[in-house]
Amino acid sequence: MPPLHVVILAAGKGTRMRSDRAKVLHRVAGVPMIDYVLDAAAVLHPASTTVVIGHQAEALGAALSEAPGLSFANQAPQLGTAHALLAAEPQLRAAEGTLVLLSGDVPLLSAQTLERLVDRHHGAHAAATVLTAVVTSPAGYGRIVRVGEHIERIVEDRDATSAEREIREVNAGVYAFALNGLFEAVRGIAAENTQRERYLPDLIAIYRRRGLIVETVAVSDPDEVLGVNSRAELAALGRKVRDRKNAGLMAAGVTLEDPATAYIGRDVEIGGDTIVHPGVTIEGRTRIGMRCEIRSGVRIADSTLGDDVVVLDHCVIADSAVENGARVGPFAHLRNGAALGPEARVGNFVEVKKTALGEGSKALHLTYLGDAVIGPNVNIGAGVITCNYDGVNKHQTTIESGAFVGSDTQLIAPVTVGKDAYVGTGTTVRKDVPPGALAVSAGAQRNIAGWVKGKRKQKADP
Ligand code: UD1
Ligand code: MG
Repeated sequence: MPPLHVVILAAGKGTRMRSDRAKVLHRVAGVPMIDYVLDAAAVLHPASTTVVIGHQAEALGAALSEAPGLSFANQAPQLGTAHALLAAEPQLRAAEGTLVLLSGDVPLLSAQTLERLVDRHHGAHAAATVLTAVVTSPAGYGRIVRVGEHIERIVEDRDATSAEREIREVNAGVYAFALNGLFEAVRGIAAENTQRERYLPDLIAIYRRRGLIVETVAVSDPDEVLGVNSRAELAALGRKVRDRKNAGLMAAGVTLEDPATAYIGRDVEIGGDTIVHPGVTIEGRTRIGMRCEIRSGVRIADSTLGDDVVVLDHCVIADSAVENGARVGPFAHLRNGAALGPEARVGNFVEVKKTALGEGSKALHLTYLGDAVIGPNVNIGAGVITCNYDGVNKHQTTIESGAFVGSDTQLIAPVTVGKDAYVGTGTTVRKDVPPGALAVSAGAQRNIAGWVKGKRKQKADP
């Protein structure tokens, strides 16, 4: 096999998106469009991958800076797809073999299709191989013009005659090229069209005139070549990705009560017999175990849930971990490193941040737990607050196993409540509570007999 190089075109302005953001960074089902293209390309194990950037080059370069082994080519100004490929010439000057050219705005292309494209290209010893699709609505795409069986040229929608517009076989914007002589030929492409741009598809006619071998590979699923050029197309593709994801999850034994309103990201994993109720969003790198129940209005992002976890309605769980058998919500917020132990319970209007809540411990009502380490079998009463912030620094609260913290308590961190200690209701805990001790800070209650009657009288005769 000759060496293989990949170039991804992503410099265009994406005018039809009406956006200040680079088009390929717009998210399809929660994942930037370009990530799909990079993932598909990676399966080819290319010797090099070059992304052509231009519009919003800085933002795009920064967003892709973590991706391994990419080089960038800058195209400025952006004068069309042929001009874009020429921008990558310096990166490929010494390269030989095959170039696979991808569009950053065609995210559903599968790795298998790319492999078929490359196989056909090599098998036919072609100078160029074009990926095509037969679609029901070809508007906006370049059309494949054939003479007999053979591809003759590609005509852009804008430049097509009405007869050519009837053609339903379209250019996917994805090609394999022999590198030998490629850039020289691309330099010969003129901007003779309505957009005054240099169109890469014009290379096909040039190659055919020279008698070079040009092949085509048609995709079996036309959805694979859908390009994103507008917000409506972005939404339509997002829906397709989600539908596929949902179908895969259901096939693997997950119940989605209403797949139409289950927004589950591409990289999410969910175990068998878990039930997802309507109107749930699960995104990022989230893993959910088996037999869980996720009720309506919940959002879970970049979090791990064990088996048999119940999340009741309207909870937000982000960057957190919940162990087997724990129960969360309704209306709870776990964030930034919240970690619930097995069988722990967090209830209504409780916020948990950077806090470990031990096995079987409970915080069921109206509570803030931040920067705390809480042992097993602890009971946190209603309205307890860890006062973790002194205006400058954050401090830790430690609550040891078996402790009982009464309702409406403030724990002024740094502070420790010892094992099996008891904090009376309404206590302001400023000092450590020793194991087994009772802490109280409220003054003794006084009852003043008849006080209300006196007060009412005052009001009546001023
Ligand atoms: C292109 C093809 C069309 C094909 C369609 C498939 C051309 C002229 N037309 O049309 O035949 O059916 O894709 O989706 O190639 N880009 C640059 N620099 C530029 C211009 C574009 O990097 O100067 C990039 C864009 O960022 C995008 C890709 O090239 O990722 C395609 O450009 P776009 O403007 O979307 O072309 P289409 O009109 O979709
Ligand atoms: Mg496009």
